Amino acid sequence: MSHGVTIAGTGSYLPEKILTNDELSKFVDTSDEWIVTRTGIKARRIAADDEHTSHLASKAAERALEQANIAAEDVELIIVATITPDTLTPATACYVQQQLGSHKAVAFDVSAACSGFLYAMKLAKNLIESGSFKNALIIGAEKLSSFVNWKDRTTCVLFGDGAGAAVLRAAEEGEGRILATDIGTDGKQTHLLNIPGGGSACPITIDNAGERLATLAMLGKEVFKHAVTRMKNSANTVIERAGLQAEDISIVIPHQANLRIIDAIASRLDVPNERVFVNLHKYGNTSAAAIAIALDEAHRTGEIKKGDKVVMVAFGAGLTWAAAAIEW
Ligand code: COA
Repeated sequence: MSHGVTIAGTGSYLPEKILTNDELSKFVDTSDEWIVTRTGIKARRIAADDEHTSHLASKAAERALEQANIAAEDVELIIVATITPDTLTPATACYVQQQLGSHKAVAFDVSAACSGFLYAMKLAKNLIESGSFKNALIIGAEKLSSFVNWKDRTTCVLFGDGAGAAVLRAAEEGEGRILATDIGTDGKQTHLLNIPGGGSACPITIDNAGERLATLAMLGKEVFKHAVTRMKNSANTVIERAGLQAEDISIVIPHQANLRIIDAIASRLDVPNERVFVNLHKYGNTSAAAIAIALDEAHRTGEIKKGDKVVMVAFGAGLTWAAAAIEW
């Protein structure tokens, strides 16, 4: 008899270098006061030049595998969610497979921006439930510092680097399980948040090299409005599918983009702020990594305990959104 799919381990890795708002203000026309008031972000991590997205991903994955007590060579599926791959091809997951020594694993990337980790979770869950794989390593990893325009103060203050991972496998009797998932996309809004250059639509050439087109561009106010509505709806979808009420939810882990967005969602879901996990003051927005890092921190600090009902909800470029409800 199937008992569903459980999260057997979590892990995260943040690069050592901390860039505070005050340090950032020395080379960008901004201030700690502006950034904190508008976003809640106080610092972000910056990966070293020779530290690629795959390296961040592998370090987070090693910690998750250790906790799950699964050997790297026994991993059957690796999905890396990222918008900042090491290379356009092959997939970052292929580098991770090699770095971990998970030579039997099928490995590919998912590109769903900040919703990517929860897209990967839904995929992995369904593939395990269908019997295709016994276990899966899902990773959200980003080196956004390589893709922000450090001359654009409206975006560069928001993002940071990092990685988080989770190991999924078939649940045994009495173990926690993923209760419900939801994913969605609105391709009419691709213009709101994108990296316009560096793809086939706009290759970087000697003529446009100075325009920094391979960096994140965003219409912040528009994104803000969509984020609140889409995340509220997606969270409500999984709460309903899981048969939960607001008061059953032990902790909400929202995408870590902006404290004002998080507060707006908490109030719309009727969940008090103390049951909403926040770490964006330390790391900024790490896109696909954000929820994965937050899940690991909440787990390792004991904020998530056995039996707890956890709701994760994300939103990002695409536009994409996703949510998951878990019984821990
Ligand atoms: N430092 C100082 N001033 C800044 C600044 C910065 N880093 N960035 C922008 N400003 C200035 C602007 O130039 C503008 O000045 P003006 O009024 O003289 O023209 C003023 O601050 C207000 O800018 P605006 O863009 O209207 O601010 P905002 O209140 O919309 O906040 C965001 C900007 C980006 C914080 C906000 O729109 C946001 O959080 N959006 C969602 C972004 C997001 O989370 N994206 C990821 C989703 S996955």
